[in-house]
Amino acid sequence: MKVSKAVIVAAGLGTRMLPASKAIPKEILPVVDKPAIQMVVEEAVAAGIKEIIVVISPGRTTVLDHFRPSPELERHLSERGKEDTLELVKKICAMAEFTAAEQAQPLGLGHAVLQARGDVGNEPFAVMLPDDIFDCQRPCLGQLIAVAERRDAPVVSLLKVAASEVPKYGIVSGDRIDERLFRLTGMVEKPEPEKAPSDLAIVGRYILPPEIFAILAEGKPGAGGEIQLTDALIELARRRPFYGYEFEGTRYDLGDPLGFLTAQVGFGLKRADLADRFRAYLKTVV
Ligand code: UTP
Repeated sequence: MKVSKAVIVAAGLGTRMLPASKAIPKEILPVVDKPAIQMVVEEAVAAGIKEIIVVISPGRTTVLDHFRPSPELERHLSERGKEDTLELVKKICAMAEFTAAEQAQPLGLGHAVLQARGDVGNEPFAVMLPDDIFDCQRPCLGQLIAVAERRDAPVVSLLKVAASEVPKYGIVSGDRIDERLFRLTGMVEKPEPEKAPSDLAIVGRYILPPEIFAILAEGKPGAGGEIQLTDALIELARRRPFYGYEFEGTRYDLGDPLGFLTAQVGFGLKRADLADRFRAYLKTVV
């Protein structure tokens, strides 16, 4: 399964991040000084993706504007000889090819993915949730693409979660067939911990075949009137071999305030230019 396109869904309301997400999409909020959406695009590009389709809500173009040239800013930086910063700004626009797809109403993750159907066409593709940010030696998406190519099959990223966290996720059932690799037999959206089939949750990266679009299009609204991606994945697992891969690395949930804070600390401590001073500061307050 060869993958050259990624769909980044960024049309949700981001209610857990209000008021920050009231006027701007939460996907533009930074981790240290880099917008979350840029981190996700960098992950995609590092995994060999060339085309990025961003699903946005009507008029909320900020996440795409970030990848457009800024002539004024570039002139300003150039006139002042700030070559390094100029390079950094220019590189953002050259990373990949970007297309926007609109989701008129936030009718769920499955519905958001469906809006990219025309731009993806008839080929396997990646889905990336930009509120899930990964810190992995090998990009999380790259780990999944390797599995998809080896098995010629769809695959999702899995994370072991505590029982108290289980009701927040789609939880999978399946058989472990290799190190970190599971052949999936089913999944349940947001189960009670005692009814969950495992402690393995699906987190924000997926490699899917184009047939998922037809399944989504036929899908009826489920929990909360939304078209759930999980329902379509359950159907996909019925039709063909489908895998889950327990990725190697750390994942941060930028979609809620605690995860957002943890990400600032995690990535802040990895920044060569900030780490020593930041660590020293943290020691004074903790
Ligand atoms: P979330 O459920 O985490 O995001 O969806 P949300 O709905 O924006 O946030 P809360 O729950 O209200 O705080 C995961 C991803 O799917 C996108 C979101 O933008 C987010 O990146 N999404 C979700 C859509 O694009 N459209 C939707 O209808 C729902």
